[in-house]
Amino acid sequence: MQPFDDLAQIDKLLTTTKSVRRRLDLERPVARDVVTDCIRLAAYAPNASNAQEWRWVVVDDPDVRARAGEQYRKVLVPLVSTMLRNKEAAGDEAGARISRSILYLADRMGEVPVLVFPCYDLEAAARRYGAVLSPERAPTAMRSDQYASIYPAVWSFQLALRSRGLGSVLTTAHQEDQAAMAEILDIPISWDQTCLIPVAHVTGEDFTPSPRGPVADTIVWR
Ligand SMILES: Cc1cc2nc3c(=O)[nH]c(=O)nc-3n(C[C@H](O)[C@H](O)[C@H](O)COP(=O)(O)O)c2cc1C
Repeated sequence: MQPFDDLAQIDKLLTTTKSVRRRLDLERPVARDVVTDCIRLAAYAPNASNAQEWRWVVVDDPDVRARAGEQYRKVLVPLVSTMLRNKEAAGDEAGARISRSILYLADRMGEVPVLVFPCYDLEAAARRYGAVLSPERAPTAMRSDQYASIYPAVWSFQLALRSRGLGSVLTTAHQEDQAAMAEILDIPISWDQTCLIPVAHVTGEDFTPSPRGPVADTIVWR
């Protein structure tokens, strides 16, 4: 099998698809077709038994976005404000910068043109195993293999967005109260909201890679 012709482009995609918060363009609309195309591409990710038990809840209605954004902000701000204070007290400036960026986005989440909630349908998974899902367990019943059956697709979705000039960031703070968000989104509580991905065009020029430690420090050869 031949390798890809343009490895430089592919390596750039893999190293510069980073969390975009301050550079999300809140003014420019995002076409539904682009989002649909990226979700189509994401579906090629590995997932258990190829059951594809995902549901992509895509919110571009301004009123629903505003309410979902406010719910995210309400849950996130107390958590991350404490984290920020701890990082500042510890002199962790790099960590504090990330917390400030997270808070910046939280204040604007409802203004981001598209909010995508990749959900995992726990009821469909339970049916596949022939089990009955207990409703009260639904929001917390995600197992590691179920997360592993959607997070590869989430990353593919983010890569596909980046390849088309769009920015995104994987967020999870809303999971503290999935019931409240399910009500806003008008979706069943048995659809685990595995993350919330704000999607927008980006402002400014190109992206550089995020800081990462040396790969040799992370590999154990045997
Ligand atoms: C499981 C997980 C949860 C995350 N939750 C949040 C979040 O709630 N809000 C946020 O703004 N970023 C969140 N992030 C993004 C991380 O902060 C980010 O990936 C990390 O700082 C590395 O930066 P980079 O993606 O730009 O390389 C999350 C990332 C992961 C993988």
